[in-house]
Amino acid sequence: MTAAVRIEMALHRAFIFLGPPGAGKGTQSRRFAERCGVPHLSTGDMLRDAVTRGTELGRLARPIMERGELVPDDVVMKMVEERLAGPDCAGGFVFDGFPRTLPQAERLGRVLEKNGFGKPVVVDFEVSPDVLMRRLTGRWTCSVGGEIYNVYDAPPKVPGICDHDGGKLVQRPDDRPEVVKERLVAYERQTKPLAAYYRRQGVLDVVDASAGVEQVSRALEEIVRRVEGRDGRL
Ligand code: AP5
Repeated sequence: MTAAVRIEMALHRAFIFLGPPGAGKGTQSRRFAERCGVPHLSTGDMLRDAVTRGTELGRLARPIMERGELVPDDVVMKMVEERLAGPDCAGGFVFDGFPRTLPQAERLGRVLEKNGFGKPVVVDFEVSPDVLMRRLTGRWTCSVGGEIYNVYDAPPKVPGICDHDGGKLVQRPDDRPEVVKERLVAYERQTKPLAAYYRRQGVLDVVDASAGVEQVSRALEEIVRRVEGRDGRL
């Protein structure tokens, strides 16, 4: 994406994309971060990377992720706090799949305050359950750059190959139907309550994430423009 079409207005702000597995958080946060010129911070990607590299964190997280459960808060927070110390995070960032529990959200609030960030902009991705299953079972991800495809709705030009870097496309082990069921249970119990938490703080926006990719992107841009109009240039 060229600099000319960047949104260029998300400076010094934390964005949080909330929503169930398969809602499109990864797809949108990658595009959004690129357009805003800020890092895309996916705790799922960080954990999968640790699993692939076989680090201590990866060995701890692997069985938990394979069951579709959440990795303990302290472990996730340590990982996130280390990442936020990176110089590329000084101008803002977009969280994908984090926070996922109330303790994570409360601790993040303190970290943001300590680092001089204002309140986050939180967007809840609302999607119907039948759409989620289609998205998860049809998802293929590039093993090199992480680009996300869907065999039904967003297929690659050549089956099994990434359009961007020619990487091999793979299916995530936790997209098996029995694990998806557990991930949805974890979402309902532990993550869904965060929407009410952020609504009480007056920072929650909702998008209809059942819509197409371009339409959801436009809805996110509208939210940024509205926040900019309300708070001044971000
Ligand atoms: P994580 O990697 O965060 O997975 P998730 O939240 O379950 O979300 P997904 O990545 O499955 O879905 P998505 O919303 O990003 O959808 P996507 O854009 O890919 O977490 C994995 C695991 O790590 C967790 O289960 C847990 O164990 C652990 N973990 C991670 N963070 C943690 C934390 N903070 N605390 C504790 N544990 C943590 O899209 C899905 C599909 O739909 C794709 O095929 C895509 O092409 C397609 N699609 C997307 N948008 C559209 C659209 N608008 N129209 C049509 N198709 C679309």
